[in-house]
Amino acid sequence: MKEVICLSKGKRGEVKGIRFKAQKSEMRNLKSAICNLQLTCGNQTNAMDSDISYIINELGEDRKNYFNAVAPPIMQTSNFNFDSIAELRKAFDDEMGGYLYTRGLNPTTDILRKKLAALDEAEDCLVFGNGAAAIFAGVFANVKAGDHIISVRNPYTWAQRTFDSILPRFGITTTYIDGTKIENFEAAIQSNTSFIYLESPNSWTFALQPIRQVAALAKSKNIITLLDNSYCTPIYQQPIAMGIDLCMQTATKYIGGHSDTLGGVLTGTHAMMKKIFEVEYLAVGSGISPFNAWLLVRGLRTLLARLERITKTTKDVIDFLKQHPKVDQVIFPMDENFAQYDLAKQQMTGGCGLFTITLKNGTLDSITRFCESLRHFLLAVSWGGHESLVIPKCAGIKPQDFDASNIEHQYIRLYVGLEESSYLIADLEEALSLAN
Ligand SMILES: Cc1ncc(COP(=O)(O)O)c(C=O)c1O
Repeated sequence: MKEVICLSKGKRGEVKGIRFKAQKSEMRNLKSAICNLQLTCGNQTNAMDSDISYIINELGEDRKNYFNAVAPPIMQTSNFNFDSIAELRKAFDDEMGGYLYTRGLNPTTDILRKKLAALDEAEDCLVFGNGAAAIFAGVFANVKAGDHIISVRNPYTWAQRTFDSILPRFGITTTYIDGTKIENFEAAIQSNTSFIYLESPNSWTFALQPIRQVAALAKSKNIITLLDNSYCTPIYQQPIAMGIDLCMQTATKYIGGHSDTLGGVLTGTHAMMKKIFEVEYLAVGSGISPFNAWLLVRGLRTLLARLERITKTTKDVIDFLKQHPKVDQVIFPMDENFAQYDLAKQQMTGGCGLFTITLKNGTLDSITRFCESLRHFLLAVSWGGHESLVIPKCAGIKPQDFDASNIEHQYIRLYVGLEESSYLIADLEEALSLAN
């Protein structure tokens, strides 16, 4: 039995002024009863807007205005015309308030923005052409010459490239820390620290940051936080609810889900999104095209089903790998042997697909033979699509620099897609037998 207090502007399924007790299993019915109540009262916002099925299937869609078509139209236009100079002037004054030119907003992209904002329980969202563009805009909008950034060690490659190769030109420095402990953040803060960059879990080591603690610390010092939530998606982790200012995702991965489009997402307050939209988004021109936005809406429709399926397959594959004599480590945040498993359970409601292994004989030769012997795990970057993938860390290291005593050089990252577990396990079994 759960006691529920409903608030009018609350999270998933809450309505103002009502306190009641319910079984967990009754929550779904309760939510739809609240939706009906709100419809009767003329208040169609809260509970319904926060139901995941509603968000994915209906929110933001205006079917009556496009012939009751179930799939939304792709508004493939660069431009929008106006009836008067006064209207045009209004659009210039507040470009985020309507449609002027597709480098800014577009109706198809807006459907996606609404859904992604609601999934993150954020006020607003901007969708970019890819995840790197979203990171770039989120960082640039919140730093100025002479500032200092704290970043977790080994963030996504192109975030690190921004910190190491672009920001120093403006006198902006970055300190990389082991983000697993709050003390390391406290120690790294300087008087000019304006931004903290997080990625939890990291997509190679799966290291987590204590998100609530970092967010509270940053807020107390007026420091903006951005968290790359690509691994979890809003389905498995809610950074905004934990106090993070900017939640970022590469929609190229799980949101798209089919390895056929790129996209990047930032969510946060409307004020923050407007600030980014009016400068970095428009100036760099890094917004998504209407067609790619439409593909991401389509990808979202099956997100829950894909994550559920991949969660199950990941477990089967990991169970197989953990007992295999040639496998040394399996690094996966939802595994009870994972160093930060307790924190993972506190912050994440799930995790799947991507994990790292090492071989008992982690030489360059055996790693190469294993990876090249796989027939169904494709040797490629990225993840989150339908197809299983493998990439060894050594692919980014010159052979003469490979250091077998450095465990990270031995990392082999696997991504489990939508294939059958037995198909993938047979492939792994064969490749492991061929590795030295
Ligand atoms: C964790 C993580 N963040 C961000 C990105 C960048 O996303 P995109 O490739 O869409 O630019 C990637 C891409 O691989 C990633 O793995």
